[in-house]
Amino acid sequence: MKLLGISGSLSDNSKTELAVSAALRYAGERDRSVETDLLALSHYSLDFCDGRHPDDYTGDTRKVIDKVTASDAVIVGSPIYRGSYTGSLKNLFDLIPNDALKGKAVGIVATGGSAHHFLAIEHQFRPIFSYFNAYTVPSGVYVSNEHFQDGELTAPEIHTRLKYLAADTVRLANLLAGNAGGPGLPVIKRESLKAS
Ligand SMILES: Cc1cc2nc3c(=O)[nH]c(=O)nc-3n(C[C@H](O)[C@H](O)[C@H](O)COP(=O)(O)O)c2cc1C
Repeated sequence: MKLLGISGSLSDNSKTELAVSAALRYAGERDRSVETDLLALSHYSLDFCDGRHPDDYTGDTRKVIDKVTASDAVIVGSPIYRGSYTGSLKNLFDLIPNDALKGKAVGIVATGGSAHHFLAIEHQFRPIFSYFNAYTVPSGVYVSNEHFQDGELTAPEIHTRLKYLAADTVRLANLLAGNAGGPGLPVIKRESLKAS
């Protein structure tokens, strides 16, 4: 399984990148068959979405779209900017094809200056994954500046939550793929609405 971590921060020494990297490390330690990769938006120079077809982007934008599309599951992290995720992450969501996250498991991480915006996970982050027909892990992880010291993520309770998030994202992805020893989630087929 390919588990992609996405960091929506463009900062140097990003706290979000630290948190998402820790979650990826925990996923890999728990299950050696999980192939992890970090997509930090600060390492790429992305075009702004201008409405062209996703197939028509080139360069870094092409690479990033392809990485998201090729993933089996994702852990998405973003700093809180003005009570929501960053504009850079929104641009990524605008660039990827509509089905890039369809049916995939998604874990959510947010970092904020204080605890004030922890509910942004529920009312800002989660809805975009419904748009993409993805399945979010019920508990996201909110990290604030007080959980970091000297450029490290030091709070043990956050590491515990990231371990749970990593494990839950992998378990949900396995369930969705029917690899968990039981049936996968049922596919609900649409009936034709044409008059018979
Ligand atoms: C433009 C901007 C807007 C921000 N808005 C908020 C906010 O609304 N709520 C909050 O808790 N923190 C806010 N912050 C603080 C960042 O979310 C916080 O420092 C975060 O940990 C930065 O993550 P990074 O190091 O990965 O970039 C803001 C920071 C910036 C630069």
